[in-house]
Amino acid sequence: MAKRALITGITGQDGHHLADLLHDKGYEVYGIIRGQYNPKRTLLEREQPFIKLIEADLTDQSSLVRAMEVAKPDEVYNLAAISHVGYSFKNPQLTADTTGKGVLNVLEAIRLSGGEKTVRFYQASTSEMFGGLDYNRPGEGYDENSLFHPRSPYGVAKLYGHWITKNYRESYGMHASCGILFNHEGEHRGIEFVTRKISNAVARIKLGKQDYIELGNLDPKRDWGYAGDYVEGMWRMLQQDEPGDYVLATGETHTIGEFLDLAFKEIGVDDWKPYVKQNPAFMRPAEVDILLGNPTKAEKVLGWKRKVDFPGLVKLMVTNDLKLEAQSKD
Ligand code: NAP
Ligand code: GDD
Repeated sequence: MAKRALITGITGQDGHHLADLLHDKGYEVYGIIRGQYNPKRTLLEREQPFIKLIEADLTDQSSLVRAMEVAKPDEVYNLAAISHVGYSFKNPQLTADTTGKGVLNVLEAIRLSGGEKTVRFYQASTSEMFGGLDYNRPGEGYDENSLFHPRSPYGVAKLYGHWITKNYRESYGMHASCGILFNHEGEHRGIEFVTRKISNAVARIKLGKQDYIELGNLDPKRDWGYAGDYVEGMWRMLQQDEPGDYVLATGETHTIGEFLDLAFKEIGVDDWKPYVKQNPAFMRPAEVDILLGNPTKAEKVLGWKRKVDFPGLVKLMVTNDLKLEAQSKD
């Protein structure tokens, strides 16, 4: 019998990669889609017709119970969230309801539908929970035992999701695991995140469709990996006999300036400064200055290792956007 997986956040970047991975492994894949008209539905139905869509919302408990009853999953991957850090400052209550309490709603839906002893659960925790402020381990990076100090409504909501998942593991013996994932990017990354915003703008500048790009703070450093590598780690967490928490990261950190360097070099531009303007609108009330992860536990226990390196990631994203922009008229 094929295993069955239910993915929340199926229209997002990670949902796309994870659905492909599970489909290739022979799973029956169910995905939760929200809204009475979701513009991403048509694309998803065209590109990934194997996904069985269920209309539900992370803030509506009864819809999640129904999703559990329809999908009857062996594994639930909770990827849905308000995931943009800047947006979370503008919509903090929506972020708390979705990114925080939404996790509780999924866990309770599993229990209410009788799955607490049989269903395996993955929670999308994040390096944003570390906050960068107390960074005091040069060269080592944050690991599963590092202190949390979230710096945004998003990070605070994710910390609730992280701890309620651990609490359900300890209280009810659920096979519930948290992946503390550092930034991961790629061809399915939303345009609102800095890497895709840059790769898209670079492609448009090359094709004469755009003159410059407006960005916020260029100094922060991130541990950027490829999303396709990270969903493999999520799956591996749920194949373990025991649940647990794992950091997935590359162990390298780079500034946005370094990303710009490599991205513009892809189109033959050595100095990007004439093409970049700073706009305070893209700055945040509090910033995470540096993120660097230590994936030793995942490498040892899960046998996980990232495959795509930083230059490979930038190249992949710019190449993809050059192709897409060459095909599109706007
Ligand atoms: P993403 O592209 O922003 O996708 C977020 C998904 O959540 C979308 O499918 C969105 O659906 C869905 N969603 C939002 N509100 C919802 C609601 N009320 N009910 C149901 N679905 C809802 O995020 P991602 O990059 O794939 O990340 C996946 C998860 O990992 C997120 O929880 C994120 O916070 C976490 N994470 C991401 C990273 C990273 O670097 N990518 C790192 C660490 C953790 P719509 O299409 O309808 O908006
Ligand atoms: N989005 C964006 N847009 N960020 C900008 C811009 C801009 O125009 N200019 C500078 N930045 C800076 C942000 O201030 C931040 O320091 C950095 O670029 C990265 O921003 P994002 O790409 O939005 O990602 P993030 O690190 O805030 O959050 C992502 O990674 C987290 C894991 O650490 C998201 O995917 C989160 O959902 C995820 O948890």
